[in-house]
Amino acid sequence: MSATTYPNYSPGLEGVIGGITTISEIISETSTLVYRGYNVHDLASQGSFEETAYLLINGKLPTAAELSAFKHVLAEEREVPEAVYLALKQLPKTAHPMDIAKVGYAVYAPFDPDYSAPATDHEANLRKAIRIVAKGSTIVGNGHRIRMGHEPLKPNPAHTIAQNFLYLVNGTEPDAKTAHVLDSSLSLYAEHGFNASTFACRVTVATLSDMYSGIVSGIGTLKGPLHGGANEEAMHMLMQIGEPGNAEAWIHDALATKKKIMGFGHREYKKRDPRAIYLTKVAKELCIEKGQTKWSEIADVLEGVMESEKNIFPNVDFPAAYAYYVLGIPIDLYTPIFVVARVSGWSAHALEQLKNNRLIRPSAIYEGPHSVEYTPASAR
Ligand SMILES: CC(C)(COP(=O)(O)OP(=O)(O)OC[C@H]1O[C@@H](n2cnc3c(N)ncnc32)[C@H](O)[C@@H]1OP(=O)(O)O)[C@@H](O)C(=O)NCCC(=O)NCCS
Repeated sequence: MSATTYPNYSPGLEGVIGGITTISEIISETSTLVYRGYNVHDLASQGSFEETAYLLINGKLPTAAELSAFKHVLAEEREVPEAVYLALKQLPKTAHPMDIAKVGYAVYAPFDPDYSAPATDHEANLRKAIRIVAKGSTIVGNGHRIRMGHEPLKPNPAHTIAQNFLYLVNGTEPDAKTAHVLDSSLSLYAEHGFNASTFACRVTVATLSDMYSGIVSGIGTLKGPLHGGANEEAMHMLMQIGEPGNAEAWIHDALATKKKIMGFGHREYKKRDPRAIYLTKVAKELCIEKGQTKWSEIADVLEGVMESEKNIFPNVDFPAAYAYYVLGIPIDLYTPIFVVARVSGWSAHALEQLKNNRLIRPSAIYEGPHSVEYTPASAR
C-alpha cells in the first residue's frame, strides 16, 4: 500500500492537523518554541518549573502572590496515599520505572477527591491537574526507592518539584546548581504540541474518560523509544564512546554505517532544537563545575561532525543525557523525569480538550477481503 494511492491518507498522520491549541507553538524556521506566547528559553533560564506548570494549566503567568499560593498547594498535594506505595511494592524489581509511574498514577486516581466529578467539570479538572503535577516527582522518586529496596521518604514541603525528585532519589539535600539544572530541564520538557503522548492523552479524555486515564495513556505512549526514550539511548552511546579521543573515529564510523545518532535530529526542527540551545549551555557549564568535562568534550566532537557532515543538530535529549548523568541520576530514570515535566503539558491539553470536546475518531482505509462466505467451524 502506498500513500500516493490515497490522496487523503498520510502515514503516521504526518502533516495532518489534529486540532487547534493555544498552549504551545513550534516555529521550525526560527527554531523557536513558545508556551502560551512566552519563549521557552526565558521560562527555563529565568523562571521555575512551577511557574511554567502554572502558565500551561492556567493560561497566564502567575503574579508573585499566585505563584506562592500555587507552590503551597503543590507542596500540600505532593504526598501519595500508602496504597500507592503498597501497590508499587508488589511490582517485580525488574519493572521499568515508566511502568512504576504508570501504576503510581493509576492507583492514585480513585483517591483524588474530585475523581468522580463529571469529566467536563472544569473547576474539578483544574484541581486534578494540580494534584497530577504535584505527585509526579513523588511517584517517580519514591517508586525508584522502592525498586531499590528502600522505604519511601516523606517529601519535604519546602522543596520545589526538582528538589523533591533529587531528594527522594538520592536521599540527600540537592545543591542549588543541581536543582537548577533539573528544574530548567523540566520547563523545557513540559510541553511540545501534538506529539504522540499528548495526542494519546487527548484521545483518551475526549471519550469523557477521566483525566488520570489520559495521563496513564500519555505515560504508556511516552515510554516507547521512538518518543521519550532517546535521552537514555544518548547516554548509553556516550558511555560506549567512553573518551574524547575516541569520539571522532566513532562518529565517522557510525555515519558510514548509517547509524542513527541518538539525541540528534527532530521531525519538527530542521535547524536547531531551541530546547537544546539553553540546555547545552547549562550542561556544559555543569560538566566544568563537577570536573567531568569528558562528556562535554565528546559532545563537542559529535556536534561538530554532525553539523559539518549532515547539517543535523542536537535535540533536547542530547544535553539532557549527559547533564543528568553528571547529576548522578540513574539512566533509566531519564524518561520518567520527562513524565514529571510533561504531566503539566498533558494536563493543560486535557483541560483544553474537555473545554470544547469532540470525540477524536479518525477513519481507516479498508484493504481486506469482501463478500467472504461464512462456513461454521465444523465445516472449515
Ligand atoms: C527524531 C527523528 C526520528 C526525526 O526523524 P525524521 O524527521 O523522520 O527524519 P528522518 O529519520 O527521515 O531523517 C532524514 C535524514 O536525516 C538523517 N538523520 C536524521 N536524524 C539522524 C540522526 N540522529 N543520526 C543520523 N542521521 C540522521 C537520516 O538518516 C536521513 O538521512 P537520508 O535522507 O540520507 O536517509 C530522527 O532525527 C532520529 O531518529 N533521531 C534520533 C532519535 C532521537 O534523538 N529522538 C528524539 C527526538 S526529540
